[in-house]
Amino acid sequence: MNDTPTQPPARSYGRKSIRLTLQPQDLMAEDAPIAGVWTARIITLFPQAFPGVLGESLTGKALKEGKWQLETTDLRRFGVGKHRNVDDTPAGGGAGMVLRPDVLGNAIDHVQRNTRGNCPLVYLSPRGRRFDQRLARSWADCDGVTMLCGRFEGVDQRVLDHYDIQEVSLGDFVLTGGEIAAQAMIDATVRLLPSVLGNAESIEEESHSNGLLEHPQYTRPAEWQGRAIPDVLMSGHHGKVAEWRQHMAEEITRARRPDMWAEYEKTKGK
Ligand SMILES: C[S@@+](CC[C@H](N)C(=O)[O-])C[C@H]1O[C@@H](n2cnc3c(N)ncnc32)[C@H](O)[C@@H]1O
Repeated sequence: MNDTPTQPPARSYGRKSIRLTLQPQDLMAEDAPIAGVWTARIITLFPQAFPGVLGESLTGKALKEGKWQLETTDLRRFGVGKHRNVDDTPAGGGAGMVLRPDVLGNAIDHVQRNTRGNCPLVYLSPRGRRFDQRLARSWADCDGVTMLCGRFEGVDQRVLDHYDIQEVSLGDFVLTGGEIAAQAMIDATVRLLPSVLGNAESIEEESHSNGLLEHPQYTRPAEWQGRAIPDVLMSGHHGKVAEWRQHMAEEITRARRPDMWAEYEKTKGK
């Protein structure tokens, strides 16, 4: 479906029968959102890029089952003039193009009109606060999140100021657009929703959940290329296995991430 300013945004629902194909239009429906379901709302020039990898595996299954929902809003629909222009040259000169505030403002207002509950509005941006597990956890505790994906040289600053939009970065590098960052952040958040990740224990133990990086993992065969699985993991002694894993997690964190290690030691001492 196409979402014009007079139509609701395109949505992907789990409960609908969804064919996971390379044609995202198949994933869109025009029904009203399901109340109480965590919702990612994306404003983008490339709605066809969604659900993308989010339509696969755990997040895809959860989307199909209606455990979360996805709405995309095509920024082009709010463009101005015959060609639906969304950008213009930077004030003061320079290379590239900047997304126009009037176009962005209309798109944001449109999305906000259909948004209920506590849904942070964020702009994916290399200048933003670095995304991390803590932020994923806080978004998972909300009713959803609304993400503005930039392109070209980014967005007019007045939009960020007017809506008090938080800028969030995937890392210290520059992507061509915000869509890949949005998918990475949604993936990290959705898997934390209660009911989405079947085995909650695996969340507790994994990297960044308890202040440590995760211990090494092994599986069959018991020996591969002359390398054996550490004996303790084959011992069947749960206490010793837990001890080894804790020790390895601490060693890896200390070696690879002195910043995390210092923080861990501080909290352990409390
Ligand atoms: C080419 S970038 C613009 C970069 C901008 N001129 C700057 O130097 O900060 C185009 C869009 O990609 C997205 N983007 C690029 N790098 C990103 C990152 N590290 N994290 C999140 N979004 C990013 C943003 O939405 C941005 O508006």
